[in-house]
Amino acid sequence: MEFPAHRKSLLKMLADGRFHSGSDLAEALTVSRTAVWNLVRELKERGLDLSAVSGKGYRLAWPLELLDGETILAGLSQSASQRISALEIHDELDSTNTRLMGMAAGGAPSGAVCLAEHQTAGRGRIGRTWQSAYGGGICLSLLWRFEEQAAIAGLSLAVGVVILRALQQAGVEGAALKWPNDVLWRERKLAGILLEVSGEAHGRCAVVIGIGLNVRLPGQAAEKIDQAWTDLNQVAGGAPPSRNRLVSLLLEELTRLLADYPERGLRAYIEEWRRWHGHVGRAVELRSGNRIVRGVVAGVSDDGLLILDCGRDGMREFASGDLSLRLDQG
Ligand code: BTN
Repeated sequence: MEFPAHRKSLLKMLADGRFHSGSDLAEALTVSRTAVWNLVRELKERGLDLSAVSGKGYRLAWPLELLDGETILAGLSQSASQRISALEIHDELDSTNTRLMGMAAGGAPSGAVCLAEHQTAGRGRIGRTWQSAYGGGICLSLLWRFEEQAAIAGLSLAVGVVILRALQQAGVEGAALKWPNDVLWRERKLAGILLEVSGEAHGRCAVVIGIGLNVRLPGQAAEKIDQAWTDLNQVAGGAPPSRNRLVSLLLEELTRLLADYPERGLRAYIEEWRRWHGHVGRAVELRSGNRIVRGVVAGVSDDGLLILDCGRDGMREFASGDLSLRLDQG
């Protein structure tokens, strides 16, 4: 969904992070100052950190780089841009994954991309929610079709690897992977991946790969996150990389991964996954529904299963699905 014209125009004027007086804004938009005040309130409700100072006007806490389709596409190699069949950018959407799952059901081809500046019902793994604030991160989904379900084994782990590659190319150092596919920085969550698969006739399937990456989360949105989190602003000491460039890097890496995943599979990525793995040798708790298993992380198998050293119970392997992993406090 696009913002109504006045709200979007106001946002574009405020995007420079400078003060703008209520009367200047009202004049530019040809609305009353009360209308400006109402529009500001609507933007704040979407997580934007906007303040009003008497005598100076309104200002965003920091400049905002809006997502831009042309800039994103211009940042792609020719082969990557050929693999993108459609690129949608929404101001606001319930969930980019939900949107693409719907498009997949309607027959959309591989390479459809959906981005949202703000999600009102962002979804995470295991029924969790994913919090976002307008312009504060990247909410990206990509649709890809496969001839057979077996071809996607381990794909969510491989996606973790290519996110780390993209981050490294953007100058972000120190990120690590947590099984099965969280991206952490100093044990705090920086990005998450939600893969959704819809089966079709003859073993074909459509996969929607959803990536949420925190770039600069204002406190209001962050308050709702129920786990340790971080964003690229903290990681990069107050100078996060450009969001448009990050999206280009992610799409470049993702499309390259997907184009030949059926032939190469997880085995082409698993060694790199292990290099980024942040928890080998750590005592953990693995939860699946009501079940809790404790052990020490021994590694990840070639198939992407978590290998836990469960002491007297020996080495055990766990598939992803609805398992979550927390560092053992005991
Ligand atoms: C997780 O860590 O639990 C996965 C989070 C995935 C969030 C992204 S944001 C873009 C896409 N749309 C959604 O509703 N979820 C994914």
